[in-house]
Amino acid sequence: MAKRQPLIAGNWKLNGSRHSVVELAAAVSAGCGAVSAEVLVCPTSVYLADVLGVVGNSAVHLGAQNCSQASDGAYTGEVSADMLVEFGCEYVILGHSERRAMYHEDSRLVAEKCLAVQAADMTPILCVGETLEQREADEVESVIAEQLDALLDAGGIASFENLVVAYEPVWAIGTGKTASPEQAQAVHALIRSRVASHNADTASALRILYGGSVKPDNAATLFAQPDIDGGLIGGAALDAESFLAICEAAA
Ligand code: 13P
Repeated sequence: MAKRQPLIAGNWKLNGSRHSVVELAAAVSAGCGAVSAEVLVCPTSVYLADVLGVVGNSAVHLGAQNCSQASDGAYTGEVSADMLVEFGCEYVILGHSERRAMYHEDSRLVAEKCLAVQAADMTPILCVGETLEQREADEVESVIAEQLDALLDAGGIASFENLVVAYEPVWAIGTGKTASPEQAQAVHALIRSRVASHNADTASALRILYGGSVKPDNAATLFAQPDIDGGLIGGAALDAESFLAICEAAA
């Protein structure tokens, strides 16, 4: 089986100020020297240049929270993949449930964005996950399948080679309700086996992150699951001490 380096990604969402994100980035880069996981921070795009100035010479990687599927043109308010590359981004979070729910991004659009990010030589972090209603209706497998298959249809199995998947059950995001390690592992295994049905090597190299109320006290048991390769961290990533404790739990 391929050895997968854990990835711990902080999704800072719409938080902070120009001053506070620089302080947070400085604390994370100062504290992550001994961490064996890959560490990534994703500020809102207007702060990318400031955060790059802090983490640029450290082990911390930089990512964005969204990007346009288009490369240029009349798309008011959008940011392209090539623009993100200019600001040092290596990853882009795509298809987060907040974007799917509040900005009506469907799986087809998310797949187009993934391909745009890969065309710019960055790595998409494709978010998938079910709502509580879908879980209670026993629809977890079909929901995740639809979210993955849109990219398989658009880009084929090759589009899973330079990609990270993040499983984020919507009911666990910002709620303090974490999926149990067993619940999370079951869905991670399902994701990997769906990819494996197309290409076993791609599936065994694929990093699959868990997101949803990951905290320093529950991180280690989640990350100990065989198909969990790190985390996508929201609230706890806004506090350097908590985020670094989560990074250490992924060792
Ligand atoms: P919380 O860690 O705040 O639940 O957020 C998870 C998330 O949405 C990360 O993308």
